[in-house]
Amino acid sequence: MSEAINVDDFRMRARQRLPRLVFDYLEGAAEDESCLRRNRQALEAWHLRPAVLRNTATVDTSIELLGHRFALPLAIAPTGLNGLIWPDGDVALAQAAAKANIPFSMSTASNALLEHIPVEASGVNWYQLYVMGVRDLAERMMHRASDAGFAALILTVDVPVSGRRERDLRNGFRLPLRYTPKLMWDAALHPRWLFGLLRGGMPTFANLSDPQAGPVSAQTHAALLTRAMDRTLDWASLDWVRRHWSRPVLLKGVLDPEDARRAIDRGVDAIIVSNHGGRQLDAAQATIDVLPEIIAAVKGRVPVLVDSGFRRGSDVVKALALGAKAVLLGRAALYGLAAAGATGVAGVMRILSEEIVRTMTLVGARSIAEITPDRVVRDNG
Ligand SMILES: Cc1cc2nc3c(=O)[nH]c(=O)nc-3n(C[C@H](O)[C@H](O)[C@H](O)COP(=O)(O)O)c2cc1C
Repeated sequence: MSEAINVDDFRMRARQRLPRLVFDYLEGAAEDESCLRRNRQALEAWHLRPAVLRNTATVDTSIELLGHRFALPLAIAPTGLNGLIWPDGDVALAQAAAKANIPFSMSTASNALLEHIPVEASGVNWYQLYVMGVRDLAERMMHRASDAGFAALILTVDVPVSGRRERDLRNGFRLPLRYTPKLMWDAALHPRWLFGLLRGGMPTFANLSDPQAGPVSAQTHAALLTRAMDRTLDWASLDWVRRHWSRPVLLKGVLDPEDARRAIDRGVDAIIVSNHGGRQLDAAQATIDVLPEIIAAVKGRVPVLVDSGFRRGSDVVKALALGAKAVLLGRAALYGLAAAGATGVAGVMRILSEEIVRTMTLVGARSIAEITPDRVVRDNG
C-alpha cells in the first residue's frame, strides 16, 4: 500500500477497512449533516496572510497548557467506542498521543478500563465525563480517574439529548451490536476488521461494568447506549464537579461567548469550543466562526481550545491565529486508528505536525506565539 500523503488518505483507508455501519458511525453527524459540512466550509473561508523575510530557519511548535509542555498545539478528542474501530483502540490512541507528546482524552463511553490507560510513558491523559442520571456513578468515575492519574477533566455539556444520527438509524446501528445477517455480511466483506473484533471480543463500556457500580450499572449502561444524559445539569452543577475533582476542568461544547464568560466566573480552567463535530445540533454555527467572539469574551483569562472539522495543519494554524491555544482531533485521529491502530494514529500526527511546521514557515511564524491575528482573514465573498 502506498504511503499516506494526507489525512484524507487515512480516511479512505478507514473506509476500506471498516464495515459500512462502523465507518458511518465514525463519519456521520446529526440530521442533514449540514453542521459537519459547515465546519469544513468555514475553515476554508478563512485564509492565511504570510509575512515574508522572517528567518524561519527554526520553527518551534510546542505549547504550554494547564501546567504541561506539549510538542504540538494538538490533543486527541474524547471519542466513544474506539474498541469497535480497533481492538483496544483507547490504549492505541493513548500510546500514539504519548509518543507525539500531546494529551489523550478518554471518553466516558470508552471500551478500555480507565486504570488500563498507560500513564507512565510521559503521557498526559484527560478524562471526559458525561453525567448520566445517576450522579454517584459520575462521582465514582471522577475519583477513579483522579486515582488513575488523569491530569484534567473534560466535562462535555453539549449532549443534554443525543443528536439524531440518521446514518446510524438507517444502518440499524444499535448497541450492543448484534450479529445480524446484515452485520455479518458487512463484516465478511471486511475480514481484517472482523478478525480484530473476534480477537478482541465485542467491546463493552468497561468502566460502567465494574462490580462496585452495583445496581446502578445496568440503568447507566442503557443511558450511555442511548446517550441519555442528565438534563438537570446546570451551572450550579459545576460546584458539584469541583467537590469531586480537584485538578483542572475543561468545559467542552461551548458556542456562546456569554457561556464562556459564565464558565470562567464559575472557576472552569479552560473552554473547548466545539459542536461535537456536527453530531449534536445540526443547525449549530461552525466553531471557527464563533471562535473570535469567544476569544474576545474570554480576554485571555483561561486557554480556549477548539475542535470540529480540523483535517489540515493549515486549519490548526488558522485557529491559533484567531486565538485558540490548541485543537482537538476527533475523526482525524480515528481515521489513523481505523487504518493501522497506534501506527496509523502516529502517521496522522506526523502528517499534521509536518503540515503545521510547513504552514508556520510559509506564514513567517517561528513559534506559536508568532501566529498572530494579523495572519488570518475571513473571505466574505
Ligand atoms: C466517533 C465519535 C465519537 C465521539 N464520542 C464522544 C464522546 O464520547 N465524548 C465527547 O465528549 N465527544 C465525543 N465525540 C466528539 C469529539 O470529542 C469531537 O468534539 C469531535 O469529533 C470533533 O470533530 P472532528 O471529528 O471533526 O475532529 C465523538 C466524535 C466522534 C467522531
